[in-house]
Amino acid sequence: MCGIVAYIGKNKAKDLLLDGLKSLEYRGYDSAGIAVLDDSKIELIKSAGKIAKLEQKIAELRSPALVADSASSEFNSMLAERLSKAFETSSCGIGHTRWATHGIASDGNAHPHQDLEADIALVHNGIIKNYLSLKHELEQDGIEFRTETDTEVIAHLFSRARQQTESDLDALRQVMAKVEGSYALAILVKDQQKIILAKNQSPLVIGIGDGEHFVASDSSTVLQYTNKVLKLKDLQVAEVTAGQVKLEDINGNESKIEVCHSVQNNSILEKGPYKHFLVKEINEQPAVTSLMLDQCLANPAKPISGFEQLDIDFSQINRIVFVACGSAYHAALIGKYLIELWAKVPVEVAIASEYASKQVLVGESDLVLGISQSGETADTLAAVTNAKQAGAKVMAITNKSDSAIYDLVSPNAYVTPAGIEVSVASTKAFTSQVLSLYFLAIKIAEDRLNADLTEVKQALRSLPLVIDQVIERAEQYQNQFLKYSNYRDFLFLSRGVNYPIALEGALKLKELSYIHATGYPSGEMKHGPIAILDQNVPVLSIAIDGPTKFEHGIYERSLSNAEEARARKSPSLVIACDDNNDLDGVFDEIIRIPNIDQLLSPIIATIPLQFLAYYIAEDLGKDVDQPRNLAKSVTVE
Ligand code: F6R
Repeated sequence: MCGIVAYIGKNKAKDLLLDGLKSLEYRGYDSAGIAVLDDSKIELIKSAGKIAKLEQKIAELRSPALVADSASSEFNSMLAERLSKAFETSSCGIGHTRWATHGIASDGNAHPHQDLEADIALVHNGIIKNYLSLKHELEQDGIEFRTETDTEVIAHLFSRARQQTESDLDALRQVMAKVEGSYALAILVKDQQKIILAKNQSPLVIGIGDGEHFVASDSSTVLQYTNKVLKLKDLQVAEVTAGQVKLEDINGNESKIEVCHSVQNNSILEKGPYKHFLVKEINEQPAVTSLMLDQCLANPAKPISGFEQLDIDFSQINRIVFVACGSAYHAALIGKYLIELWAKVPVEVAIASEYASKQVLVGESDLVLGISQSGETADTLAAVTNAKQAGAKVMAITNKSDSAIYDLVSPNAYVTPAGIEVSVASTKAFTSQVLSLYFLAIKIAEDRLNADLTEVKQALRSLPLVIDQVIERAEQYQNQFLKYSNYRDFLFLSRGVNYPIALEGALKLKELSYIHATGYPSGEMKHGPIAILDQNVPVLSIAIDGPTKFEHGIYERSLSNAEEARARKSPSLVIACDDNNDLDGVFDEIIRIPNIDQLLSPIIATIPLQFLAYYIAEDLGKDVDQPRNLAKSVTVE
């Protein structure tokens, strides 16, 4: 959560800082700010709201309207002029985009934060767990706090430590010895052309340019300017000038500078013909699916490929535990269903935050597998770390090879090729996680049982075409869904392999439209949730018929649960295949998908639900790509 940037070099810092912040907005977007070094002073501006608002505030510094308005206040107009000059000339600065943890999203709580004398300014990503006790100590010493943030303690502690030490890096180490928690820090010091950095459990990288340095929470930000990247390790500190990086460890020893050369990313992500990134990413699902099938399943008659890099002997694994959050957790539930069905290995699925700090009973025959699109989710990282320390084998499915989870489990990562997902709500990354779990389940079944799943593999090859056909129905879905924009509660039901899709549909609707929605296994409805049903609570069932007697039972039972809801006057919707013609008169709204085998249907059934959330959110005027209170990368526990 939160994104930080810094720049020192020969170009205008303000523009680079704002561009960098825009590329980090996925990490949080409730307030933003920048500070630059101007001759002897630090000048700073911040604002609640998105980066566009901060940009506007900076532009207004130069607007004649503001100067005229403030004619009565000479001070304001002088301040505006001074700030404006600093932002136009400075080539050294820091910036921050915030996802509020401590204190509301306000101008005051936005970063950068300063000490009382305004000698330093700093931006912080992470959480200082012991900030309250540190704050009390500082208050007793007469320091008056100006914000509700945990970060402000670092500003005061650092400022004090500087008065007692010769070197700023020593002062920073003194602060690090006092604070507990996670941090990536970038600090400006008055009168000094340098940026000071520290890192613990929050990512921080330096892009090495020619006579300039770029700092960010994410290498993709610095890769816009240079392909040479230095990743800071935990408890390292650095002093960065335009021409040099000095890197030290927590004991003051010089650390070796290991620069990796990455592929430079000059591409600007565009929406193309789409109104929102979300709908663009929904539309990319056939291409992503097709690419994955080509990589892993080019020839269904052959064993599955794409897992050659793993150092795991699946025949030695007796239990698998998935750890994940949100949509990735829903993908894991589908993985459990498939692995138990085909590979006959018992699988548990744990919410990562619950697994992270408990005593876990695992050993070397257990595989703990974290699923994380971003590869940076703090809860998932903590859960995998906990399992690794307890002796389990660990693995990850992630959408980013340049991520903490990839490094943590290396070489045991499968990287989904979904490409960058900009919209905060997961769509193509989710379906790519689900597809990778089909592949993994087949791989384990082939390795352990020598299973012949050629038929399933052949059927999987049809997925891109069927997804395309579903997407072609978007307009029809829109007409059906818009009738439901004004309900305040929704229930999503399904059974078996589609139960996780009911959870995913509910999550998507609530995060995009802020409508309360809950997913349940159909059979569980009568054990409590049924009490909330009436004409104001629509119930959406996913009822896909299966070819075998057992799976057909799932369909029949799903239908009778939907009837029970209808008997309570709930408006009833169903996602069903084209050939199911026994549904008219049973449901108010039948959302048709092409005929598909029940076992392969989760990826297909999820797409109308993505559209449901999208169309309702758009109809209600919500911010589709950046819903309130959310962030794409959740880097705090
Ligand atoms: C929902 C969504 C979130 C993420 C969750 C985990 O649309 O995007 O629920 O799935 O925050 O994120 P990753 O996969 O990055 O660990």
